[in-house]
Amino acid sequence: MYTLIFATNNAHKVQEIQSLVGPDFKIIPLKEAGIDIDIPEPHDSFQDNASEKARTIFKMTKQNCFSEDTGLEIEALNGAPGVKSARYAGEHRDFQANIDKVLLELKHIENRNAQFRTVICLIWENKEYFFEGICTGHIATEMHGAKGFGYDPIFIPTGSDKCFAEMTMVEKNSFSHRQKAVTKLFDFLRHK
Ligand code: IMP
Repeated sequence: MYTLIFATNNAHKVQEIQSLVGPDFKIIPLKEAGIDIDIPEPHDSFQDNASEKARTIFKMTKQNCFSEDTGLEIEALNGAPGVKSARYAGEHRDFQANIDKVLLELKHIENRNAQFRTVICLIWENKEYFFEGICTGHIATEMHGAKGFGYDPIFIPTGSDKCFAEMTMVEKNSFSHRQKAVTKLFDFLRHK
């Protein structure tokens, strides 16, 4: 069995990824690895932020690890909130305030096309590898559902008429950006 540290404190992400991974891999979130830090995301690309998180944990543990950075990119807002998705309405990282800001900005805008982008950075035997997953869709006019996290109550993936927050985790995973990037990661590891 392979053991991999996942450089995150987000329990939702851990659950989503754990549910996709077979018994060959054991994912260890930071808390379980005994690491209690909030890793900064100072860069203006998902790739650089993911790399920063994975490198920080690799330096501390010298163990194989991966991180991911995700954001919502809205066409009519020129790709915003993008890398600023967590802090779109301010440093307090409030999911509701972020959603309110997006809905207000799109209030009179017809083009509601958007996508989630996930970039995973794996550090495996001291080498860095990247995997990307994109989920296209659009922004709803109001919030729906109470599951998931972040922008899930206002994002409707292409091929569905429901917001992510109305879906079970299995259903969300069947569309999701994170699932696509994670599938590439574990296909890569299975062929190592
Ligand atoms: P992070 O910096 O990768 O942790 O994610 C940035 C922000 O994007 C999070 O705080 C959430 O608001 C949002 N986000 C990331 N993944 C998802 C998702 O799967 N659904 C909804 N929002 C997400």
